[in-house]
Amino acid sequence: MAKTDFNDRMLSLGLARVSEAAALASAGWIGRGDEKAADQAAVNAMRDQLNKLDIRGTVVIGEGERDEAPMLYIGEEVGSGTGPEVDIALDPLEGTTLTAKDMPNALCVIAMAPRGTLLHAPDVYMEKLAIGPGYRNGVVTMDMSPSERVNALAAAKGCSTHDITVCVLERPRHEEMIAELRTTDCAIRLITDGDVAGVIHCAEPDKTGIDMYMGSGGAPEGVLAAAALKCMGGQMFGRLTFRNDDERQRAKNAGISNLDRVYTRDDMVTSDVIFAGTGVTDGSILAGIKREVGYLTADTILMRSKTGSVRRMSYRNPV
Ligand code: FBP
Repeated sequence: MAKTDFNDRMLSLGLARVSEAAALASAGWIGRGDEKAADQAAVNAMRDQLNKLDIRGTVVIGEGERDEAPMLYIGEEVGSGTGPEVDIALDPLEGTTLTAKDMPNALCVIAMAPRGTLLHAPDVYMEKLAIGPGYRNGVVTMDMSPSERVNALAAAKGCSTHDITVCVLERPRHEEMIAELRTTDCAIRLITDGDVAGVIHCAEPDKTGIDMYMGSGGAPEGVLAAAALKCMGGQMFGRLTFRNDDERQRAKNAGISNLDRVYTRDDMVTSDVIFAGTGVTDGSILAGIKREVGYLTADTILMRSKTGSVRRMSYRNPV
C-alpha cells in the first residue's frame, strides 16, 4: 500500500511556486507566435523551482522520453534529494499554441503524489469522459454513445438536453461524435487546444458553463486532469487508444498490460494528490498573467485531494 501522508500540506505551497514560476517565465512569449520558445521558458523555470523543493521526486508524466526531451523527461529525478519520495506529473505549458496565439485557457500545471500512485501514461491518445461533482457514480460511462451520455446527464441534472454543454477538442477525429451530439440539441463548446482545462471546467459548471467533457487528447494530459478532478470533485474515465504497434509498445514499456482498460479517475491517481495550476492566458477558471508597469501578476489554483481544499492565489511580482 502506498503511503498517503507525503507532507502534502507543506509541500503544496511550494508546488504553487513551481507553476507560478513557469507561467511568469512564459509570459513574455504570450502572443509572439513562437510555441517552442514559450514552452522552453516554462520548462526551464519549472525545473529550477522543482529542484528547490525538499522531495525525492521522479517525473512520471513529463516532457517526453529521455531521448526526446533534455529536461523534465520521464524518469528524471527532481527535487533536493531529501524528503518524501513522490511521483510528479507536469506540463510546464499546457497549450503552447494557445500561448503563442494569445488564445484562452493556456495553463502551467503540476501534480504531486506519493511514489507509485500516478498512472505512467505513455504519450499516446486517451479517450476521455468527465463530469463534475454531485452525480451518482456511473451516471455516464465510456460504454455509452455520446448522445446517450447527454441524455443520461440531462436526466440526472433534471434539465433538458438543450441545457447541457459539452466541451470537445475541435479535431477532424471528433467530427462523427460532434455530429451525434448535435442530434441531442445540446450545446458544444469547441476548444482548439488545452483539454486539461477542458476537463477541469466540468468541476465548476456554474462558473464555466460546461457540464461534460468528451473526446480524445493526450494521455499524459488525462492523468493531470484526473489529479485536478480528484481534488475538486467529479468523475473521469479514460481509455488509451493506439494508432500503431509502436504506440502499443510504448504502453507496454510503461508497464501497462491491459491495453483496453477503462481507467477511472482514482485508477489514474490512486492516492492523495496535490495539484497546482497557474493561468498563462485568460481562461474561465484562472486569469492569465496580468502585466502592469513594473509588475506581473499570476493567478494560481492550488488543491489537495485529502482535504478537498481549493486555494486561489494572486501573486504580484516585480519585473
Ligand atoms: P500542447 O500544449 O503540447 O500544444 O498540447 C495541447 C493539447 O491540446 C492538449 O491539451 C491535448 O491533450 C493535446 O494537445 C491534443 O493533441 P492533438 O493536438 O494531437 O489533437
